[in-house]
Amino acid sequence: MAAEVIDGKAVAAQVRGRVAADVISVSDGMGRPPGLATVLVGEDPASAIYVRRKREACEEVGISSFHHEPPGDISQADLLGLVEELNGNDEIDGILVQLPLPDGLDAGEVVNALSPSKDVDGLTPTSAGLLARGDPSGLVPCTPSGVMELLRSAGVDPSGKEAVIVGRSNLVGKPLYSLLLGANATVTTCHSRTADLGEVCRRGEILVAAAGQPKLITADMVCPAATVIDVGTNRTDGGLVGDVDFEPVTEVAGAITPVPGGVGPMTIAMLLYNTVKAARASAAG
Ligand code: GUN
Repeated sequence: MAAEVIDGKAVAAQVRGRVAADVISVSDGMGRPPGLATVLVGEDPASAIYVRRKREACEEVGISSFHHEPPGDISQADLLGLVEELNGNDEIDGILVQLPLPDGLDAGEVVNALSPSKDVDGLTPTSAGLLARGDPSGLVPCTPSGVMELLRSAGVDPSGKEAVIVGRSNLVGKPLYSLLLGANATVTTCHSRTADLGEVCRRGEILVAAAGQPKLITADMVCPAATVIDVGTNRTDGGLVGDVDFEPVTEVAGAITPVPGGVGPMTIAMLLYNTVKAARASAAG
């Protein structure tokens, strides 16, 4: 039987609806709307599209967006100066520096310079540390928290289940490990040096592909009736392709997210959620 296709657009619309209601109450309390600063360095076309979508989504729910577009040859010092300025701006509750940065810039140093209270990407050492310790007060990276929301909406409780993550990035794989562990799954993380990827993936009642490799996960690597979440967004000559070989895998899996229309819309919805969470925390002082 073909797998249930999890509709990320519909789940994201529900989250955005809840956020829009929260924006009204937070704005009333603060006397201004929550504000998100976006920083797009240089002219990477894919990054430009992502950032534009994020800004449009802000407008839709009533979050003010403050956009900065420094040139690709900005110095590290000047970029750090911009982050400092945004850290100190009282109208801004969240700061998003779109990654990757152009060659020659040190993304790690830029991320570390963000004020943890405005770190809506959840990438600073403070946010990562709070998440690893299971402390819910921090800001959680948007894509992994979107994955958890999709699991919830599909009625999949990770507790007691085998969860396998393919990919160990700071943006997705590592934080998702903490979230699934916090939800009481038994979690395994695979990566490029995993000896027998297929064998490990087949253990996953929940299988999350976040490796950035088109169609890496084939049907023979999927446990029957597994919930398969595809985080991949690979631009190929044949269009946008996930990390999962979608059609054949639908014949094995119990539920699966499509690309596009699965995890992608959730990332933006959770960014809005994080911005409101940051605003609420700042209003509470
Ligand atoms: N590049 C790809 N995904 C993301 C994301 O979620 N946040 C940022 N800042 N950059 C990205």
